[in-house]
Amino acid sequence: MSKVTMPVEQQIPIQQVDYRAVLSEQEIAAIEHECSLYEERAAAGIDALKIVQDHRRWVSDESLYAIADLLQMPVVQLEGVATFYNLIYRQPVGEHVIHLCDSISCWLHDFPKIAEHLKAKLGIDFGQTTADGKVTLLTNVCLGCCDTAPALMLDGDLVENLDIPSIDNMLGKLTARGGKND
Ligand code: FES
Repeated sequence: MSKVTMPVEQQIPIQQVDYRAVLSEQEIAAIEHECSLYEERAAAGIDALKIVQDHRRWVSDESLYAIADLLQMPVVQLEGVATFYNLIYRQPVGEHVIHLCDSISCWLHDFPKIAEHLKAKLGIDFGQTTADGKVTLLTNVCLGCCDTAPALMLDGDLVENLDIPSIDNMLGKLTARGGKND
């Protein structure tokens, strides 16, 4: 039987990632600052994930291993934190991310109609990103503003009392303004 030789990079366990080879100086400094606020470095896990996501839009496996290395914590523990917080993206997302609430109050306030409209206007389904990389569409559990349902979160900001005109207005602004920081 012939032996299959893997490419060199695949032979290196990703666990051996050195955080200095992956994270930028700014990311490391910001994470170290968060660590200084806690007794245990591992307590800064969610903050570290957010910092890296702010710089890269999402947290790749390589980044996850690098953060775990920097925080001197088990990768599986950090992965648990990342999985628990659904605002940590473990796959690439677009410049803008929409989380449409699909919990009970929003569901009773036209969720199906609003969901279909959003999907049709963007030309994507939930869990997808537009072809131009501009918008990712996701669902979310209750956003905590049931009295102003239906609601969504756009790039971390709540948008409440949704209706078709307000969605069209929001999407129009998104396509007009380009990047998240514009
Ligand atoms: S159910 Fe949508 S905000 Fe609570």
